[in-house]
Amino acid sequence: MAEERKKGKMFEPEKFIQKQVHEIRERIGDGKAVIAVSGGVDSTVCAVLTHRAVGDQLVAVFIDDGLMREGEAEQVTNFFKTMNINTRLVDAADEFFDALKGIVDPEEKRKAFRNTFYSVLARVVREENASHLIQGTIAADVVETVKGIKTQHNILEQIGIDPESYGLTIVEPLREIYKHEVREVARSLGLPPEFSERQPFPGPGLATRILGEVTPERVEIERRATKIVEEETSDIESFQSMAVLMNDRATGVREGKRAFGCIIVVRLVKSKDAITAEAVNVPWEVLKRIDRRITTEIPEVVHVLYSLTDKPPATIEFQ
Ligand code: XMP
Repeated sequence: MAEERKKGKMFEPEKFIQKQVHEIRERIGDGKAVIAVSGGVDSTVCAVLTHRAVGDQLVAVFIDDGLMREGEAEQVTNFFKTMNINTRLVDAADEFFDALKGIVDPEEKRKAFRNTFYSVLARVVREENASHLIQGTIAADVVETVKGIKTQHNILEQIGIDPESYGLTIVEPLREIYKHEVREVARSLGLPPEFSERQPFPGPGLATRILGEVTPERVEIERRATKIVEEETSDIESFQSMAVLMNDRATGVREGKRAFGCIIVVRLVKSKDAITAEAVNVPWEVLKRIDRRITTEIPEVVHVLYSLTDKPPATIEFQ
């Protein structure tokens, strides 16, 4: 399909939906499918396509890894329930924090996240007696992993994990299309804008935005900063907007005394496909409001910075 589009054919979401629903139905047959949903547009679209194809043969699982944004678990599981999709919420936060303990290297964190994610998912798959695992891998994930820029947790074969060792057939309905096309599919499926227009959020969640060790306390600081940045920038057009917790500390002043506190970086980027990105020119008043709120509402933080660098040479995330 990607090849045909390069030759000048337009992407047609309705045709894509028809073709995928048909193919998913053929592949799953009488089997049972599991999908891990995050609320992101990719996994949501996959879940809705699969539900159209096989109905109650699908179970959507939200793995609460303790690394999600505020209220995300409830928002996402409630949405799936309103779509009448079988939904399970699995609380696995302790397992993820145990696995991430003491790790500071970004790729080691991804590995620890991925191993825990798949061990929890494999457990769910066994409990559900599933034959198929649906994954929301999109074309950009494949490109970046093949190029060796980053390993992302939803890419199995390129990183040498044999799906059969998990006793599963993998189905990846979106692997030939890019994010803007996934959104077109989401709109055609009638998904509400909170899902069809939702900004990409990395699989390892807030762990991707915490430099250094990921602990429950540091996640809480990052979660509160994320909420403030998202609230204050909801009117500004961006592909992604985020707060990043630095590993270094900075000297500040709290109640007239020297305080060695946390540093938060605010980053907003424009992008079409996540392959390149441009830092957004956020108005100064907005940045100052974010700064004031973060340093007032999160006393552990004494310094707020704005990230100016495009991709390349930076990547969108800090690690
Ligand atoms: P970068 O930081 O490589 O990000 O410019 C490109 C896109 O991928 C997202 N990203 C991830 N997504 N697991 C994911 O599922 C990851 O480990 C990961 N790292 C980056 C990032 O948010 C951006 O949309």
